[in-house]
Amino acid sequence: MKLWEKGVSVDAAIEKFTVGKDRELDVLLAPFDILGSIAHVIMLESIGLIGREELPLLLTELKSLYQESLKPGFIIEPGVEDIHSQVELMLTRKLGDLGKKIHSGRSRNDQVLLDLKLFIRSRLETIVEKTNILAGIMLEKSEKHKDVLMPGYTHLQIAMPSSFGLWFGAWAESLTDDLMILQSAWKLTNQNPLGSAAGYGSSFPLNRTLTTRLLGFEHLNYNVIYAQMGRGKTERVVSFAISNLAATLSKLAFDVCLYMSQNFNFVSLPDELTTGSSIMPHKKNPDVFELIRGHCNKLQGLPMQITLIANNLPSGYFRDLQVMKELILPAFEELEACLDIAAYALDNIRINHTILEDRKYDYLFSVEEVNKLTLKGMPFRDAYKEIGRQIAEGEFRPEKKVDHTHEGSIGNLCLGEIAAKKEEILQGFNFADVNHAITKLLH
Ligand code: ARG
Repeated sequence: MKLWEKGVSVDAAIEKFTVGKDRELDVLLAPFDILGSIAHVIMLESIGLIGREELPLLLTELKSLYQESLKPGFIIEPGVEDIHSQVELMLTRKLGDLGKKIHSGRSRNDQVLLDLKLFIRSRLETIVEKTNILAGIMLEKSEKHKDVLMPGYTHLQIAMPSSFGLWFGAWAESLTDDLMILQSAWKLTNQNPLGSAAGYGSSFPLNRTLTTRLLGFEHLNYNVIYAQMGRGKTERVVSFAISNLAATLSKLAFDVCLYMSQNFNFVSLPDELTTGSSIMPHKKNPDVFELIRGHCNKLQGLPMQITLIANNLPSGYFRDLQVMKELILPAFEELEACLDIAAYALDNIRINHTILEDRKYDYLFSVEEVNKLTLKGMPFRDAYKEIGRQIAEGEFRPEKKVDHTHEGSIGNLCLGEIAAKKEEILQGFNFADVNHAITKLLH
């Protein structure tokens, strides 16, 4: 079944190639495609293109299809091209010719654009929730272990004293900034492209403001050419936000892997959270964090792949854009799985309280000792030389205590400020408005 069939059947090889992965991937878009159709038919009735008595029939059927689309068994049938065709087919089976009316004033171009926006909007909400949970865990751990010192490194060489409070807190603040970037992606996504049709609007007097409100969008993508350009641009911006968050997770995962190595021995995982070796009986490997790193490094390639697909396209729709779905749709699940498992494992991580008892870490305190002499009145450069001499002559015996007071330092982690910054960003996501609109639409 093809929405555009005109009596000539398409070559089987061409059909297989052009449909590509749409049948599997479009299933993810199914509920969103139906939501779009619900809003569209309400609007069509309001401008007289669907009869008053026809609307309830369509709405009942679409709402029941929506429920069906959420069930695991929902498929795009063999011979059906994509989700847009599947929904229209199912509707027409139930309602006959009335089902065919829903495509007035619409094209699959603005349909898929809308589906993607709604899909991305919903998945961004999940990503934001999961990021917030992980950031919360890191804030908790930071507070709990604020007094436990650990080495800080530059060039991977022992540098200055750090603490678990500082280390955990750093990830909370990094994730908070990632939420900021996700918010830009969310705002860009949360604009309605429906009604741009094939990319040049329609001669029907569509009420795009109405569908914007019904679907809970914050704004319209007004210009219909620009609305169509949202295909590719939305994915690119969102993938940058994803990649940014993935970069935080990947760096964090590397730290954990490094700190779990016996040569560091700063943190450990309960045995049940590690994996073994088929040959070495003693192994307790941090596979979880290696996989987080692997997935998240892969996700950082996403913006480049998406950029390249859209790179040389002029304005207007092109089938190239279909390939982007193969990249962006699975990315959410991949990132969500990393966020979930990172939160689970980090919630159970154990820390070593006695790292600095090892004499090799004494030099961490060289700057502390220089600063102490400076505070007693010795010029910094002389103090630096004096401590350098003590180190060279094997006389250096630091106190191994730190007294840092400025904002964001070991002794003043500013966790409340970081939490407040995070809350302020979270307030800027209008998830409640969106969810309220969708609940109303389905009522
Ligand atoms: N599967 C197509 C896509 O993802 C749907 C839109 C088809 N539009 C068209 N003009 N052929 O882009």
